[in-house]
Amino acid sequence: MAENLSIQGNSKEELYQNLIPQALALIEGERDLIAAMANACAAIHHTFGWLWTGFYIVKNNELVLGPFQGPIACTRIQKGRGVCGSAWQQATTLVVPDVDAFAGHIACSSLARSEIVLPLMNSEGVVLAVLDVDSAELATFDEIDARYLAQLCQALARLF
Ligand code: SME
Repeated sequence: MAENLSIQGNSKEELYQNLIPQALALIEGERDLIAAMANACAAIHHTFGWLWTGFYIVKNNELVLGPFQGPIACTRIQKGRGVCGSAWQQATTLVVPDVDAFAGHIACSSLARSEIVLPLMNSEGVVLAVLDVDSAELATFDEIDARYLAQLCQALARLF
């Protein structure tokens, strides 16, 4: 199904408008967090063909690698470290147009050039996990990605 989501020539908004309802249906049809995260990152990743798309889950006060698509990645990230650990600490979405300009960026892949990280939070604003997406191109992500991907993060946060 994921391959059907990727339509060459469509704008980012159009791709998200196809992706989001299908990914929300996948998430809402499954009560297991890992199963839902696995399909969500596959749907996102194969829609856009980005370098890496996946989750880190807060466990015992560190981020631990969860379901992902792409090359192997570092398995644990401390609070405040890298883009993921910073998004966790600040409980906010971080859009990084050039990872080389982000002090402390953790280079899981030397191909990564830009990145977006969104927190999954409970109703009290406590970060439960983060969604990390990496691109091999500079400045791939903007407020459009932040807005649409946040919808998926909100739906997944309900499964904790
Ligand atoms: N670049 C991230 C680390 C995770 S990997 O890219 C998959 C960071 O700086 O937090």
